[in-house]
Amino acid sequence: MGETAPGPGTPPGEGDGGSGVVGGAPLWHGRFAAGPSEALMAFTVSLPFDRRLAAVDISGSRAHVRGLIRGDLLTPDEAGAVLGALDTVEEEIATGDFAFLPSDEDIHTAVERRVTELAGPAGAKLHTGRSRNDQVATDLRLWTKQALTSVASAVLGLQSVLAARAEEVGDAYLPGYTHLQQAQPVLLAHHLLAHGWALARDLDRLLACRERADVSPLGAGALAGSSLALDPEGTAVDLGFARPFDNSLDAVSDRDFVAEALFVLALIGVHLSRLGEEWVLWSSEEVGFVTLDDAYATGSSMLPQKKNPDIAELARGKTGRLVGNLTGLLVTLKGLPLAYNRDLQEDKEPLFDSIEQVLLALAALAGMVETATFRLDRMAAAADTPAAAATDLAEWLVARGTPFRDAHAVVGELVRRSLAGDGALADLVAADDRLGPEAAALIAPGVPVSRRTTRGGGGPAAVAAQRERFAARLAADRARLTS
Ligand code: ARG
Repeated sequence: MGETAPGPGTPPGEGDGGSGVVGGAPLWHGRFAAGPSEALMAFTVSLPFDRRLAAVDISGSRAHVRGLIRGDLLTPDEAGAVLGALDTVEEEIATGDFAFLPSDEDIHTAVERRVTELAGPAGAKLHTGRSRNDQVATDLRLWTKQALTSVASAVLGLQSVLAARAEEVGDAYLPGYTHLQQAQPVLLAHHLLAHGWALARDLDRLLACRERADVSPLGAGALAGSSLALDPEGTAVDLGFARPFDNSLDAVSDRDFVAEALFVLALIGVHLSRLGEEWVLWSSEEVGFVTLDDAYATGSSMLPQKKNPDIAELARGKTGRLVGNLTGLLVTLKGLPLAYNRDLQEDKEPLFDSIEQVLLALAALAGMVETATFRLDRMAAAADTPAAAATDLAEWLVARGTPFRDAHAVVGELVRRSLAGDGALADLVAADDRLGPEAAALIAPGVPVSRRTTRGGGGPAAVAAQRERFAARLAADRARLTS
């Protein structure tokens, strides 16, 4: 941008050095006596970010051309020239040889302009029956479907790492928390898989979102369809969409699929931020449950001893921006009248950004979790406090007929007396005639966690069954993704 030399199609008298007019003929040059100002181009251009739609834009154009042949709107020769030009454009873009012009407002304009240069008169027929409104919606849906699939694979990648580590750590246990206060011990595998199940729901949402994105808007034209013999069903099939649009106004203005994708990505971010926050704590000296591998930690420029959990912190921190991307788009969409409005161009940057950031985060976290060393001795020591057995003591009383509320009070009072200095909890329990030595044995290291036996619970037998269910779910999801 910023070039003021007159271009090939600049209306006469415009585009001279000082006019602030950009060279090159805009797509609407027939109606306009003057070319676009630099200020307009600088403000409205989307090429810097929508270039990444080049490949899907070319696919969309190929399908459109084949539709035009079926409608007798292009002769085979004309179609051959246009398809050949599209091949060349694809090649030029792939190799970086494509020369973008200041007048190329977006990727659609750039591709069509170059096709017209290469294909001669036939090139001028490429846009027959098509608008950039249905074109950009088609491109973005194609792109989004692919991107959601990539994110789903990356989610599976992190889930696989969590599952592998959950297998490897066996029956190691750590404190389970509520309110970040020690509550009841659970297996480390149980804790790792808890994050895995959240990701399983994310994967579901990604695939559901992909399904709703799987509608072809091509053939909707600017807003109302066409008088020409277009073939929306045929082009939908050609592009691999599940179905064509039902309403042309909706087809060109619907960005639900982007908003949904941004929500799913923001929620993945929220999930990753929770894991990230825990790993920040776990890797601190005070907690010390995990040592990060050097390749997945950072140092300090000033403090020689430091090893910092930057991946975990950024997993936490970047979530703000993912939520912002969702919020921003929802506000953009709010109140927009039918059908296409240029506001909709604001859909792309948040989408591209959220996809990119979530992919980076998933890969970095997968590496961090895969390579970290768990300090199982420290986890067990933290979990083996006498108070960790408090609930088991109350349940021991319940199993012998004491109403739970009364059992809770009995144990609570012993905990309070122990904290007040009356003696070790185990001694107080052993000496209490409602409890006694058999109950006191529950306080021994490793015993409380073994008593979490119910389905989905945190003890060894329950977790063994859970591991199998998680592995089955992973295998099924992997198959869903490849089908
Ligand atoms: N760059 C535009 C976008 O992303 C393409 C569609 C422009 N359509 C229009 N009628 N100005 O939305």
